[in-house]
Amino acid sequence: MSIADAAPLSRRGALALCAGAGAGVLAGLVMPIRAVQAAQAAQADRRGAAVASTATASAAIRTRPIPHSGEQLPVVGVGTAIQFDVGTTAREESGCRDVVRALVAHGGSIIDTAPSYGAAESVVGDILSATGLRPRVFLATKLERDGFDAPAAGLRSSLQRLRADKVDLLQLHNVSDPSQDLGGIRALKAQGLCRYTGITTTFRGAYDAAEAIIRRDRPDFLEVDYALDNRDAEERVLPAAAEAGTAVLVALPFGRGRLFRLALGKALPPWADEIDCRSWAQFFLKYVLGNPAVTAAIPGTDKAVHMVDDTGAGLGRLPDAPMRARMVRYVQSLG
Ligand SMILES: NC(=O)c1ccc[n+]([C@@H]2O[C@H](COP(=O)([O-])OP(=O)(O)OC[C@H]3O[C@@H](n4cnc5c(N)ncnc54)[C@H](OP(=O)(O)O)[C@@H]3O)[C@@H](O)[C@H]2O)c1
Repeated sequence: MSIADAAPLSRRGALALCAGAGAGVLAGLVMPIRAVQAAQAAQADRRGAAVASTATASAAIRTRPIPHSGEQLPVVGVGTAIQFDVGTTAREESGCRDVVRALVAHGGSIIDTAPSYGAAESVVGDILSATGLRPRVFLATKLERDGFDAPAAGLRSSLQRLRADKVDLLQLHNVSDPSQDLGGIRALKAQGLCRYTGITTTFRGAYDAAEAIIRRDRPDFLEVDYALDNRDAEERVLPAAAEAGTAVLVALPFGRGRLFRLALGKALPPWADEIDCRSWAQFFLKYVLGNPAVTAAIPGTDKAVHMVDDTGAGLGRLPDAPMRARMVRYVQSLG
């Protein structure tokens, strides 16, 4: 058995999708997950960016609990580091707006941003304000290193740009000191200005520091780089998070596009069907989501059609350990 578990397909979601796709499907019939995905793909093909409409319902995306609260989070979100650093006119923001609409329409909610991502916080703030989607979004931002000692001021600036009165998650961006204190962001959590605390790192050399903080202070979240061809986090950081009940957001799940360059012009292996992968993006995302320590992945994109593809990784079966090992071998053979 190469399948870890299967996501439930909500009857309501399936029916709404059928209605949206205009398919002549009898009421009460729950479509097999592959058929739902095919219908989604057909919709995406027909409507292009219009698939980003908030009216589009879909199969239920997989969710996982935040260990410290039990709150369920959809397993695919979006990162804004590069793709959302655009101009702040409505026209310049339109591509990112379609991405956010696509994310929410397909069951996702996490948007991860940071003050150091150029205009991204402001773009996210404009989009959430224009679309009214703030209540449906799990909004994560960060404190930059030069602001670790003055977290209230840093968060205040972020809230202005995000046009929000609080964020869901506030993370210390790129921790490097194992004695880093979380007291400042915990105080902001106690004041209701953020709902969860977290730390991030995407540097192998800072994993020891991250691990020490996780084991000592048990932050609600860790954001860490992890991808099919970048598995160092599996050694100690992800196990430490699992033991501490720290939720994990996967940054750089495509290695900033590196995995797509590796797979360029190559076909998915036929056995990708066994884990319901329709694209390389889903293959790469399902690898990280197949690790039970992972709560969600936050790929970056500025294309609604890619966002829809990415959220598809939250549907259907996930790989178990033997299948994940097979995925690694296959990708290694491409190089
Ligand atoms: N220290 C930290 O805290 C830290 C550091 C780095 C990153 N992060 C977080 O991780 C997030 C993701 O990182 P990232 O965006 O740099 O790298 P990434 O998610 O690994 O890769 C993004 C690349 O994948 C492409 N892509 C996305 N979906 C695709 C699809 N379905 N098909 C084909 N191509 C697809 C994007 O191109 P298109 O735009 O053309 O879709 C883009 O070139 C960041 O936004 C940030 O939130 C955190």
